[in-house]
Amino acid sequence: MKIIVLNGSPKGDVSITMQYVHFIQKKFPQHELKILNISQRIKTIERDDNAFREIIDAVRSATCVLWAFPLYYLLVPSNYKRFIELIWARGVEDAFKDKYAASLSTSIHFYDHIAHNYINAISDDLEMKFAGVFSAAMYDLLEEKERKRLSLFAEHLFDTIEYNVPTSRNFRPLIHSSFEYVPGDVQTKIGVGSQKVVVLTDSKDEGTNLGRMLRQFTGTFSGEVEVIDLNEVDIKGGCLGCIQCGYDNSCQYGDKDGYIEFFNTKVKSANILVLAGSTKDRYLSSQWKLFFDRSFFNTHIPVMADKQLGFIISGPLSQNPNLRQALEGFFEVQQAGIVDFVTDECGDSAEIDALLLSLAERLIRYANDGYAKPASFLGVGGKKVFRDFIYGRLRFPFLADHNFYKKNGLYDFPQKDYKSRITNSMMMLLSRIPSMRKKIYTERIKTELIKPLQKVLERE
Ligand SMILES: Cc1cc2nc3c(=O)[nH]c(=O)nc-3n(C[C@H](O)[C@H](O)[C@H](O)COP(=O)(O)O)c2cc1C
Repeated sequence: MKIIVLNGSPKGDVSITMQYVHFIQKKFPQHELKILNISQRIKTIERDDNAFREIIDAVRSATCVLWAFPLYYLLVPSNYKRFIELIWARGVEDAFKDKYAASLSTSIHFYDHIAHNYINAISDDLEMKFAGVFSAAMYDLLEEKERKRLSLFAEHLFDTIEYNVPTSRNFRPLIHSSFEYVPGDVQTKIGVGSQKVVVLTDSKDEGTNLGRMLRQFTGTFSGEVEVIDLNEVDIKGGCLGCIQCGYDNSCQYGDKDGYIEFFNTKVKSANILVLAGSTKDRYLSSQWKLFFDRSFFNTHIPVMADKQLGFIISGPLSQNPNLRQALEGFFEVQQAGIVDFVTDECGDSAEIDALLLSLAERLIRYANDGYAKPASFLGVGGKKVFRDFIYGRLRFPFLADHNFYKKNGLYDFPQKDYKSRITNSMMMLLSRIPSMRKKIYTERIKTELIKPLQKVLERE
């Protein structure tokens, strides 16, 4: 059986993910797993038609495509995303149609489900038969139990292909609208005051709904609003995954391109950030993904903390909750305040005008008030994954994170909560006595739980 492995790691062969592929190769020598480096060679693949053709021909000759990638910012790396875009841009979807597909990733399990949903949806859009997901933690291969699990995954995959087992289509095709947004006159202007408002976009083209929504939105402000087209920022390439930034947040690219300066002077200094983009396949454009990936020089430090965030999106966002969660998850973990998403989906220009105005108003108001809604599980859970990861195995090489987390109280493990520890020990002892246990659990528990809150209410 011939499997084409599309390698998403910019590190090419020196990739953690590829060690998992090599493991499968070793365990199943009867099958051919041919690895093609996609992310590492994206520039050649984009430029050289033959290089692209060779990959597509290899896909045509295979029975299955294994999407194998590292998680990068809740998705696949930007270069890999670009390759996926090229499949449609160059009209070679038919090479993938009816083939089996599966996805394999390594990560720290931070939003790995988003990336796998994305690849599953892409496979469904390509009318492939998506046979399953294997999401490994970076060092799972060291554990006997996990090696066994990986072997079984591969065995089941090969059997699925051999016996032509049917697969579910998990993601329905997206329905795109042909609605054209026509902005109305701006009735009210919102004063920017002392807030620094920066709008990032991947297109200012007023021939598109996005461009017109941007014009309308920026027109609602009186005062300075800076609009930056990501295509005009000098970005030489995607994140290389070298982790040189782990020591002191200095990126290997340094001043070889303009990204670091752009990020430090424009993005970091904004109080209000608005992200604008059109959906492209099941995400935003790979240019947007590039923006996120290259911000990795900040490692796991929440550099977006306390910013107010707004999103202006053209395209069927409500049909794609995975994309919405990717954006919400990222910014919640960053401790930013997400104000709202405005899209053109309602298909009514006046309504979009009103939504854009309301977004502008709330961004300024929330920034002036210092208000951000509390994080949901997306932010709370994500922060704990980072905390444990930095505290644990990968404290080295992520020394900059460790120092930041220590200094800023992000190592908020419960073990230092001495008051709770003493109370817990006492209550655990008491609950061993049957009569006390009965009294606590049947009579006291509800009132005791609200006691500390009532004390606050009495004070207010
Ligand atoms: C730019 C960048 C972004 C990352 N984003 C995530 C992420 O969102 N979630 C996660 O679990 N791991 C993330 N990681 C960790 C990698 O997925 C992980 O180290 C992976 O094993 C690297 O695989 P590779 O050596 O095959 O490239 C990120 C790493 C880098 C360099």
